[in-house]
Amino acid sequence: MEGASGEVPAGHEPEGDEARAGDRHGGGVSKRLYVKTYGCQMNAYDSGRLTDLLSVHGYAATADPADADLIVLNTCHIREKAAEKVYSELGRLKQLKNRQGQAATFVVAGCVAQAEGDELVARAPVVDVVVGPQCYQRLPELLDRRRREGRAIVATEFPPEPKFDDLATPAAGAGAVTAFLTVQEGCDKFCSFCVVPYTRGAEYSRPVAEVLAEARVYAEAGVREITLLGQNVNCYHGEGPDRVEWGLGRLIEALAKIDGVARIRYTTSYPADMDEELIAAHRDIPELMPYLHLPVQSGSDRILKAMNRRHSAGDYLRLVERLRRARPDLALSSDFIVGYPGESDDDFGATCRLVEDVGFAQSFSFKYSPRPGTPASLEPQLGEDIKSERLVHLQALLAAQQQAFNAACVGRELPVLFERAGRWPGQLVGRSPYLQPVHARLDATAIGEVRTVRITGGGQNSLAGEACHEEAVAS
Ligand code: SAH
Ligand code: F3S
Repeated sequence: MEGASGEVPAGHEPEGDEARAGDRHGGGVSKRLYVKTYGCQMNAYDSGRLTDLLSVHGYAATADPADADLIVLNTCHIREKAAEKVYSELGRLKQLKNRQGQAATFVVAGCVAQAEGDELVARAPVVDVVVGPQCYQRLPELLDRRRREGRAIVATEFPPEPKFDDLATPAAGAGAVTAFLTVQEGCDKFCSFCVVPYTRGAEYSRPVAEVLAEARVYAEAGVREITLLGQNVNCYHGEGPDRVEWGLGRLIEALAKIDGVARIRYTTSYPADMDEELIAAHRDIPELMPYLHLPVQSGSDRILKAMNRRHSAGDYLRLVERLRRARPDLALSSDFIVGYPGESDDDFGATCRLVEDVGFAQSFSFKYSPRPGTPASLEPQLGEDIKSERLVHLQALLAAQQQAFNAACVGRELPVLFERAGRWPGQLVGRSPYLQPVHARLDATAIGEVRTVRITGGGQNSLAGEACHEEAVAS
């Protein structure tokens, strides 16, 4: 068993197979594109932008791989067996023949592409193009080269120019109420367990004007909630229109002024980069939702040091206190790793104590998984049994906290942004400010609106409620 709530470690549910309507060229499209997305929201965002880019080159998105001329696997390398999963998926998909009786063209994108490079083509000759996360803007050209040169193309360099400059303006999936917006990429922190600094490269922030322009496109298309993404989103330091670097707090303040933007979230944050301005934003900006994903990884100072995290357990607890002073109802979630090399019973006990001290609304926990090329993978490893035992214990604790948090919402009236139809007729699903899915009986016209809902039930992962008024509330 892995993460308590599936594969996406940062608060939102996995997007599943990302197949968006990207056809902006009407009936003239002849080629079909199938994109399968693994891993984090940044990959989900990249898949959306790739779909938009390829739509300009005549590809319409399909949700059926058997219907596709082009298949893109946008992969994740964060924990074990990632590469193996990709090889077996390729083995399965290469059997498919599309409506012209032909095999599709295969692209492997994302962090496995970056990490495996040529090895991917050697092991899976079906692959036509391997493209790392920093080279997506070149995909149409790489596909052309593949056709011309008749051999597999591998592009995994880190080009000096920012990748977003050349990607098409996002089409924002028609009717979407929420959107991801990547504002920062890469990581220079080098936690000793993590592959991200190797697969995503050095830290980079997009300029403010570019972020605001993209947000306006979403807002005009009807998006009401924007989640700012970055591997270390709170170390954002993009160049402002005044040529001065803006921090994330200031960026959020500007985004909140865009017409139609009712809600803003951001993920994932690094505790040591939480500055005063951002903490104040939680106090001062009503559009900024009171939910924060703030990974701590461990509650043991010894392990945090070995992990090369630049904060202690005490630093984390003090930070939580400051945040809660700014926004008393702030709900927190976190990531935890159990079974890191050298983790003793006492170290693990310290993690459980930190969990008790903070009280998390939601959390993601993982067994330590040695990643090739990272310092921790060279240390003597703990046995699987002890890792599994600790994970079960920690997940039980975290699940009980989540259940308690949800149960405590019963009887409250919460503003809920409704996103889509629910499983039952006449039912809609939305999100509370604390990111809980909320189910309520409501007419479909409420999709895209924030309605006050009286919470009547709290389950493990979601809430049920009744809409209080007929009218939408302002935010
Ligand atoms: N930038 C984020 C984390 C990105 S990776 C941060 O500041 O913490 C997402 C989560 O995956 C991490 O928080 C960590 O809990 C988990 N993770 C990363 N590498 C891992 C590994 N080698 N084994 C197990 N879990 C890992
Ligand atoms: Fe990974 Fe640590 Fe950066 S978890 S993404 S190296 S902050």
